Amino acid sequence: MYVPISSRLLSALCALALLAGAVPAVRAADAAPSAHVTILATGGTIAGSGATSTTTVGYTAATVGVERLIQAVPELAKVAQVKGEQVFQIASENMSNAHWLTLAKRVNVLLAQPDVDGIVITHGTDTLEETAYFLDLVVKSKKPVVLVGAMRPGTALSADGPINLYNAVLLAASQEAVGKGVLVAMNDQIHGARDVTKTNTSTPDSFKTPELGMLGYFQGNKPYFYHVSTRKHTLDTEFDISKLDALPQVDIVYGYANVSPVALNAVVAAGAKGIIHAGVGDGSLASKVLPSLTAARKQGVLIVRSARVGQGIVARNGEANDDELDFVVSDTLNPQKARILLMLALTKTSDSKEIQRMFYTY
Ligand code: DGL
Repeated sequence: MYVPISSRLLSALCALALLAGAVPAVRAADAAPSAHVTILATGGTIAGSGATSTTTVGYTAATVGVERLIQAVPELAKVAQVKGEQVFQIASENMSNAHWLTLAKRVNVLLAQPDVDGIVITHGTDTLEETAYFLDLVVKSKKPVVLVGAMRPGTALSADGPINLYNAVLLAASQEAVGKGVLVAMNDQIHGARDVTKTNTSTPDSFKTPELGMLGYFQGNKPYFYHVSTRKHTLDTEFDISKLDALPQVDIVYGYANVSPVALNAVVAAGAKGIIHAGVGDGSLASKVLPSLTAARKQGVLIVRSARVGQGIVARNGEANDDELDFVVSDTLNPQKARILLMLALTKTSDSKEIQRMFYTY
């Protein structure tokens, strides 16, 4: 049975309850996330736009600025305090050594600041794996650095950029990512910079770490790691780009049936300091190109035997007598990543035995 109660008594009872803390006076505003993450934007499809919602190829990359990328994902504010910087605005097929040095120096300056806990780099997917590996070798901090891109522009149905960006910020803000080297966040997966590669021209699941395996997943707003890289990175490398204004010229020449030494001779004549030979099979060298390679070596050009197949170890003294030819083998690095390590190695030494050690270390 309802017993009437005076309004004054009701007010007094509510005031007592508030004082006793039984009823929170005001729901505490959600506490701001503690992690500070800086997003460095460089362009790519994640910043791209297409003519229609079904345009997933034939769009324009690098058209949307970093502030709009951040505004498009308000959920970022729940995982980190985010700041954006537009470092470049390019399609990543145009990424260059100069871009890499600028980006790496900015990353190291920011990570040295106590008010930066992690960095996300938005990037075109075409050379994302290369930038990631370069940074993996030259970033001088344990703080997370996460590269992220998109396979569809933000204007497309089921664009993957926003969720990839959210996952990347989540990872860069996480303790789990500390000390793990440079990471790649794509398609709900966590990959390590050394071994990740783009495997498909256009599908959202393009980024994979075939055979050696990705490092983990994102699920339910959390990153989950299952592996770590066994190779040295970031603070544990011998490379320092802080005083470098340029990197040695290293080019890649491709092996294939009926190959001729024309391309090889051209890059040597143009002054390459190192050559990555992307050989067939286990890094095999066609007899037509071997004389040009040995001549280049005699001129002081450092030769690395890599393999176009993409997986597996290029065996030293397997398909060629590397000891006799004074060549280096790339271990499991694909040609584009072998080029990055050789460029950095040549900033330290031209000794082929020292460089071979580096290929077995990083
Ligand atoms: N032009 C390509 C690039 O910037 C677009 C591919 C992408 O970003 O997914 O890498």
